[in-house]
Amino acid sequence: MLGRLNHVALAVPDLAAAVAAYRNTLGAEVTAPQALPEHGVTVVFVNVGNTQIELLEPLGEESPIAAFLEKNPSGGMHHLCYEVDDILAARDQLKAAGARVLGDGNPKIGAHGKPVLFLHPKDFFGTLIELEQS
Ligand code: CO
Repeated sequence: MLGRLNHVALAVPDLAAAVAAYRNTLGAEVTAPQALPEHGVTVVFVNVGNTQIELLEPLGEESPIAAFLEKNPSGGMHHLCYEVDDILAARDQLKAAGARVLGDGNPKIGAHGKPVLFLHPKDFFGTLIELEQS
């Protein structure tokens, strides 16, 4: 089921500062900021050859990463995103195995314009997992 690692996501308190650090200090290629109101975040992607790093900043009052940043005020690793061939088949297989899918269980369109789902971190050893249809 599990395909390649699509990205590692880091929640950051100040996206402009994080972009400057990755672009100027680390010399990385960083995409333009993209607001995703349905997900409550603004994102950029850092291209690092074998995968991408997603930098997430809260957007709006109900941002799902606000509580994470309260606990981790300087930022930190928020989730891993793996690709799957068929996101609905993956969801049904995971649910049958007892894993919890966050939200209403239906995929939303993610930052790459493809359907995504999130799995409860308590079911995967403390790591929030995002699945993206490849
Ligand atoms: Co992500």
